[in-house]
Amino acid sequence: MSQLNTFKRHRRLRSSAFMRSLVRETHLRTEDFIFPMFVIEGENVKNEVPSMPGVYQLSLDLLLDEVREVYELGIKSVIFFGVISDKDEIGSEAFSDNGIIQEATRLVKKEFPDLLVVADTCLCEYTSHGHCGVIHNHDVDNDESLELLAKTAVSQAAAGADIIAPSNMMDGFVSVIREALDEAGYSNIPIMSYAVKYASAFYGPFRDAADSTPQFGDRKTYQMDPANRLEALREAESDVAEGADFLIVKPALSYLDVLREVRDNFNLPVVAYNVSGEYSMVKAAAQNGWIDEKALVLEKLTSMKRAGADLIISYFAKDVAKWLKENE
Ligand code: PBG
Repeated sequence: MSQLNTFKRHRRLRSSAFMRSLVRETHLRTEDFIFPMFVIEGENVKNEVPSMPGVYQLSLDLLLDEVREVYELGIKSVIFFGVISDKDEIGSEAFSDNGIIQEATRLVKKEFPDLLVVADTCLCEYTSHGHCGVIHNHDVDNDESLELLAKTAVSQAAAGADIIAPSNMMDGFVSVIREALDEAGYSNIPIMSYAVKYASAFYGPFRDAADSTPQFGDRKTYQMDPANRLEALREAESDVAEGADFLIVKPALSYLDVLREVRDNFNLPVVAYNVSGEYSMVKAAAQNGWIDEKALVLEKLTSMKRAGADLIISYFAKDVAKWLKENE
């Protein structure tokens, strides 16, 4: 035939499962995942989050069972969020030595010393108004909030947290937290900065899970406008300059372009946060029988790695670990 060499035979490399596996460019590994967990006050509490089927708020006495499962699946890291009822204007529970995250961290590190505990450093789960910092004149006071965040980070490190993950989006949080950690003797504790965090409707179910919905207004004066790409690079750049060790891009799915740019422009490990809304949408569709959950979850998590993520924070982490084991 005369069309020889006039077109390319791409399908040669897709001819069988083994061939496809041989040329696959992106791989998910259980070690890539950080599993988020909600720790709630009380005893013997295991509440399924209504908008997040399969995700639970667990009291301290039940926490270890789930952590053991995570550990045995080969997941190397968890991130904790606290759920409390006794909140105040400044979020005192966030930086109390006996705060719920501090307690959870001590407990888990005692039982699983090598499991990496990431502490989410924010005030919104602990403030009565639900904002991520101190409020003055109906807006968050950036610099006053920094001091409390630094205290929170130090108390989390003192409880044994391996990584500090500030998520509150105040300007300067990385430098203030770095300085406070260093002064307190924690210069070896890395900062995983939520460097690029958009003001996103995809956080809706999380606010149910962590009871952290702002009581007035929204987070748009501190979280980023979803329309902006260059601003993401400015945010990442300043966090790198201030001493971040990891950069988080959040949410993940609608921001794969941003993830790629952050990967291409900086040389720190990049973390994608596959957020609550991304989880809930899949679960809802799966429960209706509208999609193939396993195939869809693996596809979308793979797309995050293809876009440049080194690590993924995901409520699907346990499922993925199980699926990957099945395929071994
Ligand atoms: C706290 C925080 C939020 C998330 C992680 N840390 C909520 C928010 O900023 O409103 C969202 C995570 C998710 O949706 O899964 N600041």
